[in-house]
Amino acid sequence: MTLNRIAVYGHRGWASSEIVKALASSGAPLRVLHRPGSDILSLPVNVEVVEVDLNNQASLIEKLKDIDIVICLVGHGGVPLQHHFVKAIPKTQVKLFVPSDLAARYDKQGNSIPVNHQKSEVEKAARLAGIPTAVVLPGNFAEFVLSTPALGIDYRDNRIQFIGDSASEPLNLCTRPYVAAAYASIFASTPISQLAGRDLALSELRVTGNQIAEAFARKFHAAPITRRESKEHIVQALGEAIETGNPMSLALYCRKIWATGEQARMIGKDIWDVEDYPKATLPSLIVEGALEPYRSLPEEVRNYFTNLFDQCE
Ligand SMILES: NC(=O)c1ccc[n+]([C@@H]2O[C@H](COP(=O)([O-])OP(=O)(O)OC[C@H]3O[C@@H](n4cnc5c(N)ncnc54)[C@H](OP(=O)(O)O)[C@@H]3O)[C@@H](O)[C@H]2O)c1
Repeated sequence: MTLNRIAVYGHRGWASSEIVKALASSGAPLRVLHRPGSDILSLPVNVEVVEVDLNNQASLIEKLKDIDIVICLVGHGGVPLQHHFVKAIPKTQVKLFVPSDLAARYDKQGNSIPVNHQKSEVEKAARLAGIPTAVVLPGNFAEFVLSTPALGIDYRDNRIQFIGDSASEPLNLCTRPYVAAAYASIFASTPISQLAGRDLALSELRVTGNQIAEAFARKFHAAPITRRESKEHIVQALGEAIETGNPMSLALYCRKIWATGEQARMIGKDIWDVEDYPKATLPSLIVEGALEPYRSLPEEVRNYFTNLFDQCE
């Protein structure tokens, strides 16, 4: 078995820190490239740690020496920084670029939301530069959907806002540990020729709003308080949010594509299953309490979603 030599940029995020740990445990040689001033104290000891100034192309090329795969996991504020990799990679021996995505193949409206637009511009630039690319598409993180009220599911207060057909439409979810295990299973030793050009979908569990309500009822020994929002209303609210540059547009878009049943289809059909991984289920996450927290939301963001619930009938 040949191990791929991997470089990661964006090691310290909510999702990326777990992915880095899993890659470090996979046996594949791992180099973390970080910007000056990054906290590198929690990195596993077997990781090679290298500071990089992305504006210095000659230095970036040097730091990508002896690397087969570049995996970017940069957070929202840094998505455009990946263009530095797109410009440098053709001058290296890197064989595969994996840009920061971790979502789904959104439609035109989804890709008009600034961060998604930036992600698609990076992917387009990589294709134009002839760089073999693969993306990983988990749909939504289970911790984001189930531990925050962003999509109308309020675990803290046992409340659910059904939007459009979300009661009966499936939502594709993956927990952070599953996504981390998937990165290791995909990239540590798979021949790169088998990965190039693929949109690798991950599917740990698919859940409907009704199934979540059932799990909440078992967890809390009381049916959740529910409200309903029509499909027409979310479509209109999303349109206005995008037009006015509302920073919640991405969350509203995620609500809409669940409400219409599009989300589960947007991960595509090329599903990568992590072999021998015991997948989470709604009962294990909700009833037995295995659900981990998402990063903490600022109070004003939580209030925004609480208001959306209160405005529904
Ligand atoms: N589908 C979903 O439900 C979902 C949920 C969460 C995340 N995601 C996706 O997962 C990917 C990683 O997200 P994350 O939440 O793990 O990221 P994050 O917490 O924001 O992590 C940011 C990482 O990127 C690095 N970085 C470098 N330059 C940056 C800049 N200018 N601004 C911000 N960060 C910068 C940071 O470096 P330092 O260490 O130097 O700070 C850090 O290591 C993103 O593509 C995000 O969209 C998807």
